[in-house]
Amino acid sequence: MIQLAIFEDYQSLSRQAAKHIVDLIRKKPNAVLGLATGSTPLGLYQELVNMYKESKVDFSNVVTFNLDEYVGLPHDHPQSYYYFMRQHLFSKVNISTANIHFPRGLFEDAGKACREYEQQLQDIGRIDLQILGIGSNGHIGFNEPADRMTLETHITELTRKTITDNARFFHDSGEVPRKAITMGIGNIMRARTILLLANNDTKTAALNAMFSGVIDPNIPASILQLHENVLVFVNREVAKNLKYRSTALVN
Ligand code: GLP
Repeated sequence: MIQLAIFEDYQSLSRQAAKHIVDLIRKKPNAVLGLATGSTPLGLYQELVNMYKESKVDFSNVVTFNLDEYVGLPHDHPQSYYYFMRQHLFSKVNISTANIHFPRGLFEDAGKACREYEQQLQDIGRIDLQILGIGSNGHIGFNEPADRMTLETHITELTRKTITDNARFFHDSGEVPRKAITMGIGNIMRARTILLLANNDTKTAALNAMFSGVIDPNIPASILQLHENVLVFVNREVAKNLKYRSTALVN
């Protein structure tokens, strides 16, 4: 079931998302979080850091799994997702390095890198809360539109649309890696709860596919309609053009 919550602005959306995570960690100090990168969750991470500084949350037993990483970028590359997480969250809270899990973007054997991450995900069982952004083409993690969905951790060829969308983080689109390693759709769907954030109207079409009643591998996020517990947080701007039919929770 998908529940939609509409927020006045990005800050209140981010604040509520952070509160949701903090409530979970208070109830379950060793909660397993699935984390996303991209510009959308930046406000959420900032709020988590603020709440940590105010001693409202303790990350010492929290376990994290990130969704994806660019192939070929080392951890210390400023555009790598590991670097992003370290810069915006990991280095600013008391999370234990041993509890941080990341797919390896640098490897000699792609199959081995995928199997390793898949094994770590299997060993942990279920992610308690998976944070998601959404690509303007409907991708989640780096599960790109395709003829079929891939369930496990895999290497994916980035679409032209994703390369263009993500070029803003690089000097030019030629520098954007062409491949990524990502959790599969099965890994994401196994999470107990999914919290998807969207704050930009370039995501409207992709979001509407999540409310359409059709599951389409060409819009990977559409699979979320089959999940038992998905929360979608959007701002008022994005909400305007959504075709969500049930009563939305307005914050
Ligand atoms: C990337 C990430 C996704 C993210 C998407 C949207 O491609 N792999 O996990 O959801 O970008 O990014 P943004 O939040 O910057 O729009």
